Amino acid sequence: MSAEIFDKVRQLGKDIQESAPKSMEELEQFRIKYLGSKNVLKSLFGEIRNIANEQKKEFGQLVNSVKQSAEQKFSSLKNELESAAEDAAAQDLDLSMPGEPLQLGSRHPIAVTMNRIIKIFERIGFVVADDREIEDDWHNFTAMNTPEDHPARDMQDTFYLLNSTEMLLRTHTSSVQSRVMVNAQPPIRIIAPGRVYRNETISARSHCQFHQVEGLYVDENVSFADLKQTLLYFAREMFGPEAKIRLRPSYFPFTEPSAEVDVYLGTATEKDYRLTKGTGWLEILGCGMVDPAVLENCGIDSSKYSGFAFGMGIERQALRLYDIGDIRLFFENDVRFLKQFASAL
Ligand code: DAH
Repeated sequence: MSAEIFDKVRQLGKDIQESAPKSMEELEQFRIKYLGSKNVLKSLFGEIRNIANEQKKEFGQLVNSVKQSAEQKFSSLKNELESAAEDAAAQDLDLSMPGEPLQLGSRHPIAVTMNRIIKIFERIGFVVADDREIEDDWHNFTAMNTPEDHPARDMQDTFYLLNSTEMLLRTHTSSVQSRVMVNAQPPIRIIAPGRVYRNETISARSHCQFHQVEGLYVDENVSFADLKQTLLYFAREMFGPEAKIRLRPSYFPFTEPSAEVDVYLGTATEKDYRLTKGTGWLEILGCGMVDPAVLENCGIDSSKYSGFAFGMGIERQALRLYDIGDIRLFFENDVRFLKQFASAL
């Protein structure tokens, strides 16, 4: 009787060595049969009570060694089948297939235009000053010589933060002028590019958010001639060597005297009503000599120093550079629109 059982276990050991599952499914059958919770070895272990006492130890060792060989066989079979599956997958790979097209992003036309403007001013020694978009009333208005009851405050319909008469979304990058001047003494030569907000009705020509580049130059003996020459240099770099500028007297609370500046874009645009109202001239910025009151508000001695400042809109120049008809396109993030600027820097 016990010899028979010994033979049975040995036969099982042989079966295990000889079994050759060809798939993961067959391997699973192998596992269930020899290693699963109801495996055949377990039932053989149960037979130990029918074995003569002096043979019990030998029998136990035999069953154990068969069990170990089943475990080893299982893990080596598993490795083989898995690496065979990987090889097969690799063989299916067609390396000559074209790859998945990579969707490259592109710079936004506003960023491209802004970067061009920044570079032009950097070449003549201006440095970029960056500051906050959520601003307080003092830096945006009061320091800039725009007192509470001044009509200029009505010119700019402002977004105030909820429940606040103090904090607002800056209405112009001129707020950076006061931010810089309270912290530094002349010579100051900065440009401040960034986003600004006004509570305006959205249309093809205006938006409640847009971009400006501010310029500020404060030193001893800065004159209106310096301002004019700086702006002419800018216009030629931006719009070509034939560009002309004209200054029209204007009013801003923070400059005295003040002017608005138009650039002449050439005879071809004289018929372009959309861009130049049929004149060939495009209005691009406001400017002037920094009002001494602004210098004093910010702790700069106005008897010693003078300065000029300007603030220009970016969107209008971008419309011109890329011949775009509607300002809203800049903010809709339609990739069909944005993709067209993929090659722009
Ligand atoms: N801040 C003005 C605006 O948003 C533009 C401007 C005008 C800025 C004259 C200046 C300046 O620095 O001197 O309409």
